[in-house]
Amino acid sequence: MSEQQSQQPELHSNGASGKEYRNGDTPRPRARAAGPVKGFSPRFAQIVGWGYHVPEKIITNFDLEQIVDTQDEWIRSRTGIEERHVAASPAETTATLGIQAARAALEVADIPPSKVDLIICATSSPEHIFPSTASIIQDGLGAVNAGAFDLSAACSGFVYGLSMARGHILAGDAEYVLVIGAETLSRIVDWTDRATCVLFGDGAGAVLMAASDVPGGVTASVLGSDGSGADLLTVPAGGSAMPTSLETVSSGGHYIKMDGTAVFRFATRVMAEATRQVLDRAGLSVDDVDLVIPHQANVRIIQNSVLKQLKIPGEKVFVNLQKYGNTSTASIPIALCEAIEAGKIQPGNNLVFVGFGAGLTWAACAIKWSVPVSRPETTWWRNTQRQAVYQAAAARSMWKRAIRRVYSQFPAESRWGGRKEEGEVG
Ligand code: COA
Repeated sequence: MSEQQSQQPELHSNGASGKEYRNGDTPRPRARAAGPVKGFSPRFAQIVGWGYHVPEKIITNFDLEQIVDTQDEWIRSRTGIEERHVAASPAETTATLGIQAARAALEVADIPPSKVDLIICATSSPEHIFPSTASIIQDGLGAVNAGAFDLSAACSGFVYGLSMARGHILAGDAEYVLVIGAETLSRIVDWTDRATCVLFGDGAGAVLMAASDVPGGVTASVLGSDGSGADLLTVPAGGSAMPTSLETVSSGGHYIKMDGTAVFRFATRVMAEATRQVLDRAGLSVDDVDLVIPHQANVRIIQNSVLKQLKIPGEKVFVNLQKYGNTSTASIPIALCEAIEAGKIQPGNNLVFVGFGAGLTWAACAIKWSVPVSRPETTWWRNTQRQAVYQAAAARSMWKRAIRRVYSQFPAESRWGGRKEEGEVG
């Protein structure tokens, strides 16, 4: 056990260990003593469910040749990307992709949405400035006992989210946390700018993290930021610094702007450094690593950082960006799911997730994978039950909206039994 783990507070635990708990019975630390307390086992934050969802529509490099002045050969050789999925239907949004990915993760873990305590949605292309995409996902899942918030750390956001989820679980504040990376970057990409539109894609990935007394899970994390590079990768308009106006819209201020060369240099340096740091924190060496899942932005960044600088062999680094492009916060969880499908992850493996992005930000997590990777047998009855849960969630949401609409028709006096709300005049 690493030094970090042995210093964790001693807690009641259940979650992924299989024991049931009722919401509201979230266990609290009994003691924050340095040594083990008799009768209590340490607590760990395990990934127990995973899933992803990408839109059906695929845009290949050849399709892009029809849109901007680019060539398949250029994109392939400079980035490694061959195609990307794009949310072509207006009904596909960041939240709908996130909901699908989250449902898949809950299905793998065989946990109902009502047991989720917290939903963290990392995204660079949220549904709105507010409310949070996470709240919309919470409603879509029917996760009625969950808190929900968005996390803005650009492409590093999913790994930031894992670190936050681990903190909540180890503190005893949550048993189950959904961490989602979801994007519809195609909606904020300038399709006339060949320097950026060839790079990005849409999709969502999710993991369910659970409290467990099985040693392992997310064992260490490193988070970093250098805001002096804020202008290197940005959507300049639409916020407080540059509010939306006719001018910001006509000048393309709401699209992604990037200094690709500067971001490339930063990413190559920071990916290797963050991986080294997180391994150090987890008490591991580079040789102990079974698989690195890096942010899938550019295969040359991966080659120049984890492969060349850390001398990690190619077969220990998972790459799937040729199929999806850079899906920002979704890239690592989508790659995790595909690595599992490809049989690249087994219980006992040491994994590193490492990302970088706008901010500038970077983040890495060390994970001791400790749960079976086989998907549970699912019966038609279980599937029917799940569908019923989601239909009930949709019905509940519609009902609440309808009640609010009806309620808002009544004058304030009758709503409040004749009493005026504080601050209400007239
Ligand atoms: N198709 C064809 N030519 C293109 C092109 C495209 N899509 N985009 C740029 N070019 C041209 C440039 O105009 C330039 O032409 P010039 O030499 O006549 O001026 C030439 O290709 C080289 O451009 P350059 O920017 O130096 O290429 P590069 O090798 O640095 O690759 C990136 C550009 C964007 C692929 C690379 O810098 C990169 O991946 N940066 C990191 C971006 C990233 O990961 N962002 C997300 C972070 S989360």
